[in-house]
Amino acid sequence: MRETRLWSLHILVLPIIAVLLGAHFAVMHYAPVFYGMSVEKAREFSTMIERGKSITQLVLYILLLAAGLYHGMYGVRGIIRELPLTPTLAKLVDVGIIAFGLFIFALGTYVTWWTYSYKIGG
Ligand code: HEM
Ligand code: HEM
Repeated sequence: MRETRLWSLHILVLPIIAVLLGAHFAVMHYAPVFYGMSVEKAREFSTMIERGKSITQLVLYILLLAAGLYHGMYGVRGIIRELPLTPTLAKLVDVGIIAFGLFIFALGTYVTWWTYSYKIGG
């Protein structure tokens, strides 16, 4: 039952990833089409800081980070767990994956928070 729930979540986050990653690609790769802005300008530091001030962007990026990380980490766990592991090793893999995921989540959240709270000119 627990495995089914974890796997379902791995699938349920897919629409979130598809929509938010699609939007992220629109900003990063198709800025001329959607924002009338060159790709170089869209990726400039000052433009990034400008975008970063939006609370909506802060929330949506953290959501994409969580959804993408969960999906990816669960997928990697599935791959590693196909190895003939002892129950202790399997448990260790779970703990390691959770710890690694939380670490990357903390880093990613910090980066997004950093752009959100960045003060231009110090
Ligand atoms: C819209 C984007 C994505 C779609 C539609 C998608 C779809 C899928 C599907 C259908 C599966 C197989 C699920 C299963 O049968 O258990 C899967 C597995 C997986 N996905 Fe994604 N995924 C996407 C993005 C990502 C991203 C961004 C990552 C990396 C962070 C990722 C990493 C993985 C991994 C590691 C697996 C496990 C592969 C395996 O078991 O061999 N995916 N994905
Ligand atoms: C070449 C492709 C990519 C480029 C050029 C790019 C560029 C950027 C930039 C400049 C930011 C800072 C925020 C902003 O300016 O809007 C950012 C943030 C972010 N990107 Fe990407 N990105 C790419 C691919 C991806 C992919 C494939 C994913 C997820 C599967 C992703 C997930 C994120 C997340 C979650 C953030 C928020 C900051 C964080 O949590 O670390 N990006 N990206």
